[in-house]
Amino acid sequence: PEAITVQELANRMAEKGADLVKSLFNMGMMVTVNQTIDQDTAELLVEEFGHNITRVSESDVDIDTSEDQDPEETLKPRPPVVTIMGHVDHGKTSLLDALRGANVVKGEAGGITQHIGAYQITTKNKDKITFLDTPGHAAFTQMRQRGANVTDIVILVVAADDGIMPQTIEAINHTKAAGVPMIVAINKCDKPEANPQKIRERLLEHEVVVEAMSGDVQDVEVSAKTGAGLDELIEKILLQAELMELKANPDRLADATVIEAKLDKGRGPVATVLVNRGTLKVGDVFVAGTQSGRVRALIDDRGQQIKQAGPATPVEVLGLGGVPQAGDSLTVVENEQRAREVASFRQQRETEKRTTLAPTNFDTMFSSLK
Ligand code: GTP
Ligand code: MG
Repeated sequence: PEAITVQELANRMAEKGADLVKSLFNMGMMVTVNQTIDQDTAELLVEEFGHNITRVSESDVDIDTSEDQDPEETLKPRPPVVTIMGHVDHGKTSLLDALRGANVVKGEAGGITQHIGAYQITTKNKDKITFLDTPGHAAFTQMRQRGANVTDIVILVVAADDGIMPQTIEAINHTKAAGVPMIVAINKCDKPEANPQKIRERLLEHEVVVEAMSGDVQDVEVSAKTGAGLDELIEKILLQAELMELKANPDRLADATVIEAKLDKGRGPVATVLVNRGTLKVGDVFVAGTQSGRVRALIDDRGQQIKQAGPATPVEVLGLGGVPQAGDSLTVVENEQRAREVASFRQQRETEKRTTLAPTNFDTMFSSLK
């Protein structure tokens, strides 16, 4: 709720102050150009003069990259971003480990994924796939919801020896709400008690009709333990990705989404981001949520320092002024002054929000990977 002087509003609309005064007079208000009017009145005037209403304060300062599209000819194919979802202990992390040939599960506290891990694999045919691993624990529902919205494809992991569990259903609902295609990976098929057919039948109750049941949702039997079915899973991901013709412009200032962020004892604020478009480079100046910074180092998912990261690449960013929130966008800007201006504007807005009613809505974080 801002007040603005008549003259200032006239300047912003490129109209004469006197004309505004006249209009206000016709609306029954006696004011001079130096007097302030409230926001509602200002909006009425703006409409009266045939201009579009934008929140002047925001659009003047803040950056919103979700609307501006890159020209078709600048777009190049990019890897798909695949999020692995499913009930706790159904084998999400194990499956991802098997796919990337590493072992993360053993390094996790109690074997439960505490955060969204982000990894990229390169297939035999040199295709790249980016994976996001989400926690299966009920307490992490919100985090998982965030994961679904930066994603192109969801892999729903269901353990063949268990069945459709509460978080399986939650993942199905969230995937449907986000309008993201799903591939069902029926895991733990190496177990003697595994019953993949039962899983397929049970999925029908949740309106997930897999190919084997004459539906259009791809499904594949896998075992993270033996590696069975993994090649087929990768094939299905690539097939789905091909249909989607995923593209992004790599030759521009980067924007990215913060997947997770923390304050690291030795390294300071660290954010894992997923580049949406453009190429993020060491030395780039950026604003990430309410924080500004300059990229001091980029570290890939194998812990290697890299110089730059293109579209759909997950990368750790060092050089932040503070810790941003998961789900924030990180946007590269022209210079430090601009970065600070945007960051301080956003900080101010946050403070204002906190003093008014501010419902948190994780679903507002929609992908800019378009
Ligand atoms: P959260 O991150 O806690 O939600 O679990 P998760 O879904 O990532 O499961 P995780 O990969 O940690 O695996 C859970 C347990 O199932 C571990 O003990 C794995 O060794 C076991 N497991 C995973 N995949 C398979 C499989 O294909 N076969 C068998 N036999 N065991 C598996
Ligand atoms: Mg896990």
